[in-house]
Amino acid sequence: MKDIVKKQQDYYYRKAKFEGYRSRASYKLLQIQERYRVVRRGDIVVDLGAAPGGWLQVIRHLNATAIAVDLQQIEPLEGVTSIRADITAPETVIKKIQEIKGQVDVVISDAAPNLSGVWSLDHARSIDISRSALKIATCVLKTGGNFVVKVFQGDLFDPFTREVGAHFSFVKAFNPRASRKQSAEIYIVAKRYAGKREA
Ligand SMILES: C[S@@+](CC[C@H](N)C(=O)[O-])C[C@H]1O[C@@H](n2cnc3c(N)ncnc32)[C@H](O)[C@@H]1O
Repeated sequence: MKDIVKKQQDYYYRKAKFEGYRSRASYKLLQIQERYRVVRRGDIVVDLGAAPGGWLQVIRHLNATAIAVDLQQIEPLEGVTSIRADITAPETVIKKIQEIKGQVDVVISDAAPNLSGVWSLDHARSIDISRSALKIATCVLKTGGNFVVKVFQGDLFDPFTREVGAHFSFVKAFNPRASRKQSAEIYIVAKRYAGKREA
């Protein structure tokens, strides 16, 4: 069993090397895109937790442009504006995005906390980052825009999915084949943002 899992990891790792992607994560976004068509030609996409840039390459191949946010520096890519910032301080990130582009078509987040090995802590941190991604999305998305966010599964997953569902007319959890079999990660795909509510 271990060998099969390893073989699959190696498959996407080798495929990424062969096809020139910066990370094997590219295939997760390609599989999300194949199923749900979240990004369209000409879209402006905010990519949260974007380093090293595998998802950014996919966005560019889809003829969309991107604003990339990460704690780490991202190697420059044509059609991508990078912001070095912490997503868990969403107000700062929102301000920086809005300085570049008032509103965007899609927000995607592959951000993940550094794993401590303590499951409840890692799960809570993952939800914390995902909730910040949702906050950013609801401030910068155009009405009708799409949102994709990675979450580690656990007891806070269902309540968080409902929080996302309150803002979008379509919400599904999706497990791409390229996710490692032993990984607890899952992606929430949300389409058609309902727009900002009056305070
Ligand atoms: C799995 S990697 C993303 C891979 C990327 N999607 C790709 O295709 O190359 C997760 C990223 O999230 C970033 N990250 C984690 N916590 C963050 C935070 N609070 N603010 C900004 N970025 C964060 C990490 O620095 C890391 O680069």
